Amino acid sequence: MPKDPARGDGPVVRHDRDDARYVRRGPESPAATPTATPVDEPRATAGTAGSPAVGTAAGAPPGGAVPAAKRAARRPGRAVPIALIAVAALLLLALAAFATTLIVVSQQAEGNPFRDRALFVDPDSNAARAAEGSGSDEQREAAARIAASPTAIWLTPERVLPGTASATVADTVAQAEAAGALPVFVVYGITDRDCGGFSSGGLPRDEYLDWVDEIADGLGDRRSIVVLEPDSLALASECPDPDARTALVRSALARFSGTGAAVYLDGGHSAWLPAAAMAESLRAAGVDEARGFATNVSNAQATDDEAAYAARVSEALGGAHAIIDTSRNGAGPPADGEWCNAPGLALGEEPHALDDRVVDAVLWVKPPGESDGTCNGGPPAGTWWPEQAVELVANADRLAGGS
Ligand code: BGC
Repeated sequence: MPKDPARGDGPVVRHDRDDARYVRRGPESPAATPTATPVDEPRATAGTAGSPAVGTAAGAPPGGAVPAAKRAARRPGRAVPIALIAVAALLLLALAAFATTLIVVSQQAEGNPFRDRALFVDPDSNAARAAEGSGSDEQREAAARIAASPTAIWLTPERVLPGTASATVADTVAQAEAAGALPVFVVYGITDRDCGGFSSGGLPRDEYLDWVDEIADGLGDRRSIVVLEPDSLALASECPDPDARTALVRSALARFSGTGAAVYLDGGHSAWLPAAAMAESLRAAGVDEARGFATNVSNAQATDDEAAYAARVSEALGGAHAIIDTSRNGAGPPADGEWCNAPGLALGEEPHALDDRVVDAVLWVKPPGESDGTCNGGPPAGTWWPEQAVELVANADRLAGGS
């Protein structure tokens, strides 16, 4: 199957200056941001129903009356014991607070699918092959540098043909398992994928769901991560039938139940849809059945902005978790808002798990060095582009060197 058919690479280019991803949006209006309602605080501190009222001494006789002899026996005689009791009480309070913190932290870590596992580094990535290829020394060095870090493995129907997906995915999962590592997959083959953009393609509805079934079958019950259909929801309003699209994402998500995959739907990024709208769309696509959502995929918004955005989306959803793509956000987004093979980008923070209430990990979801499409001098979407790899590495080095 030809990759990125002419429809996406030719004149039918929807990502013109009206495209949402070109537009550098201002901060969201306050109205768009849901009001913060701290859910846990009151519950964490209030006593449970039926627990003794504050100040009631356990074991006090009914009515609270304490015989005079006992009162006298309990009355501290000197100032020093009072001070000691106060210090002891403070210590107990501090200990309780510390224990609560430990419990909360370990609960977060427990649910985080990135815990306890290194991320899988695919020995057969485009970058790994380019590192052994025929480029200049500089190009091979840049490729080797990128190939050494874990990046997501994109499953497209062009590369992983229907009928072969189960075996291909099972093979990768087995490799990862043997390495004691966690593989991250991106499933990218939805009907009318990219809605006329550079990555146009995808499978008809029924074939698509069969293909997703194959992928789920290949994953089995071993631990893995799936980022489901980048852009599909945030872009939906620009596609012919947004509701059908959302329903299809929901059906695809359901195919992963019973597998060992932690699934993240795509949640756009901080300069695209307002958090409340994104949350609504994620909810309609069934995010409650997923681990959460991914932000910044193939984009370059700053990590702090993405974390703040993810927190707002998560809050609107009642606590969904997130991952952030940091593959090329080291220099932040370009001033003109360009998203497609934008010049001046830099590799971002290396992938790793976080111990955070919302963000499970920062990842390199879009493999750095792979083109976004035939824009800004790049080759077709997904193709290795040595010049871009060199630039991303050089800019990251420059930033790290402080120049
Ligand atoms: C392309 C895919 C590619 C992915 C990662 C997308 O834009 O359409 O073919 O696998 O980027 O580079």
